[in-house]
Formats: sequence, C-alpha cells, structure tokens
Amino acid sequence: MSTNPAAGLSPATVVVSAGRPERTQGGHINPSLPLNSTYVSRGVITSGELSYARGDNDAWHPFERALVALECGSGADGDAGAGEGIVFGSGMAAIAAVFSLVPDGGTMVLPRHAYQAGMVLADQIRDRHGVTLRHVDIADTDAVVAALDGADLLLVESPTNPMLEVADLPAVLGAARARGMRSVVDNTFATPLGQRPLEHGADVVLHSVTKYLAGHSDVVLGALVTRDAELAATLREHRTLHGAIAGPFEVWLALRGLRTLALRFERAQANAAELARRLADHPEVAEVRHPSLPGDPGHGRAKAQMNGFGAIIGVRPVGRAGLDPVERADAVVDAVRLWLPATSLGGVESMLERRRRWGTEAVTVPEDLLRLSVGIEDVEDLWLDLDQALRA
Ligand SMILES: Cc1ncc(COP(=O)(O)O)c(C=O)c1O
Repeated sequence: MSTNPAAGLSPATVVVSAGRPERTQGGHINPSLPLNSTYVSRGVITSGELSYARGDNDAWHPFERALVALECGSGADGDAGAGEGIVFGSGMAAIAAVFSLVPDGGTMVLPRHAYQAGMVLADQIRDRHGVTLRHVDIADTDAVVAALDGADLLLVESPTNPMLEVADLPAVLGAARARGMRSVVDNTFATPLGQRPLEHGADVVLHSVTKYLAGHSDVVLGALVTRDAELAATLREHRTLHGAIAGPFEVWLALRGLRTLALRFERAQANAAELARRLADHPEVAEVRHPSLPGDPGHGRAKAQMNGFGAIIGVRPVGRAGLDPVERADAVVDAVRLWLPATSLGGVESMLERRRRWGTEAVTVPEDLLRLSVGIEDVEDLWLDLDQALRA
C-alpha cells in the first residue's frame, strides 16, 4: 500500500501526486512497470491477493488509485475505501461492462447523441438480449426523467459526443437515484477536472482514458470509477471473464500522461474558448457549438456545473456554390496543414474530422458537422491554419 498524499489537495496537485509509491529512503518516486502474467500463489485464493494477471494486476493499481482520488474528490484518499477504480483495455470495454449490468429484457436510457460505437453496441444488445432502448435528448431534463420509469440503467454523456449537449447532471442523476436505478456518466469530454459526476449522484463514472487522461494519442485504454463496492466487484468480474484487460505499459503511460492533465486541459480549454469566439464571427462558418459561447444552448448549465467548458468544438462551414455540404466540409479537412485530419480527441495535438464520415454516427448529427479537438499548440497558429482552411 502506498501513502496517498492526495487528501485535501487541489485536483491540479492530485494529478501530479496521486498513485506514487510509498516514500522510502532510496525508493522510486514513480511506480515501476511490473511485467507479470502470474504471481507466486499457492493454496486457496483469497480476495485481494494477486494470483493471475487477468484477474488483478499490480501494474494497474497506481493509475486506478489516482483516478479514485480525482473522481471521488480531492479530499478523498484514493487508497482507503473512497471508491474503486477499474482500468479496462479500452473505453469500449468499459462501456460493454456497464451495459452488462442490464438484464436480458431490461431497459436502458441513452443519449440520442453519444459516442457512436457505444450506440452500435447498445443496438446489438437490444437485438440479441431483448433490451429496450430509450434514446433521449440528454439536455431535455423532462424527457430524460420521463424515460426513466421502469428502466434499469441511465447512460449520460455530458457534453455529448459530438453535439456538445449539456445534461442537468444533478437533476437527471437525482431522478435515476430516486427510482433505484443505476446511472453511469461518460466523463471523457469533461475529465474529472471539469466535473465529478459521482458528487451529483452517479453510480459509475466512465472514461475513454485514450483521450484527455492519457493525453498523447499513444494508448487505447478505458476506466470506471464507483463508490459502490458490490458494483465494483461485478464490473471487475466482467473484466476478468471477458478478458477486457489493459496492458501494463499502456497503464504506465496513462499515469505518466495524467501528471500533466491539469496544464494540458487548462491550455486546451483556453484555446478552444478563444477559437470558438473567433469562429462565431468567421464569414465562412454557418454554425459553431462550444459551451463557452454565451449563445450556446449548453452555456448556462455548463457554467453552473462545470469547471471550464471543455476543448471540443463543433463547426459547420458556410456552403459553397457547386459543392454539397459534405464536400464542402471534407474540403476544409483536406485543407488544414497544422491540424491533423484524424478521429479521436483529447491529445496534445489538435485534430478534426467530419463525424458523419462514420456510417454509424447518428443521422440527426448534421452531415457537414466538423468535430474539432483543440490541443495545446499556440492558439494563433491554430487560428491561422483553420482560417486558411475555411477560406481555401
Ligand atoms: C465519449 C467517448 N466515450 C467512449 C469512447 C470509447 O473509448 P475507446 O476508443 O477508448 O474505446 C470514446 C471514443 O472515442 C468517446 O469519445
């Protein structure tokens, strides 16, 4: 057990200090990278004991403790029962684990706009396990609450991918709790520095660690955090039995990336707010979505419940004669030189893509919507490149 120095510290300090080894003379300041598929073990297996590295792996523990310290509050001791972190081989593996909580024939309430592969998986579960799906506008609190009756699980994304809708977290999570049903918040876009859904009543927080937490577009990883020990045991068992496990090196890299999350996210959010402000006045931009903009539908709520507005922007270019909207949006992607034309988000490098190029994206997402993941480069360089691409 390490001593967790996170108690009472600001999240910007927690990302640096959580999950470190115990302080001993000559000891390591960073967790080491243990590479083991199995552990010395004999006799009856007791819970909490390391035996086989698919069930539990000490390479995961420092990162899992850091996540608990972050999601359960800066006053939490990530070591001592504040909550449990469960790292997965990808964000999708974490989504699959929470969907497995819904019984055959049960009901899930889902955002109509949410990470598309998660929605494809939900459709498969509907078809194969008779689960009813109720898709809602997650920003429409009355519609969400009305959909909860008789449901087993509420999945929330806020802000949503890619439409950036903002849910009233206390209201919808409180309503789910009042009905005795489970709620899960995908906190990938906001990060624990932007909001802590467990404090608003969520049972589980989900991350695609691939994105901001790891932050360098070099690993694929997921995680869940919960305060409910029984639920944690169920989710861990799912991970073990489905083999949805993370590699030690990926987890080590994620913790290394997490150390700079506060700096990276602060810069990325500031860049995004500045770019959104300029894009809103750009003659070649028909629509821009970012919760920082006073006129954005999610602005008031994000201001009230988030720390910052995130670093993802939605942009629709002004049409051009002779080009259909898809060709026009694709032409912008083709014209960038600094921004990377790529999927994914949350890395230090800025990237953009037209979301509907994925055939599985919701049809209610405009075909010409560009999703911009704003990185930490100099904002003037980002602006010049976007401006020339929009005018090209
Ligand atoms: C909001 C959100 N949740 C979950 C995922 C899935 O995560 P992964 O790609 O790590 O499996 C993604 C991936 O883009 C995402 O954007």
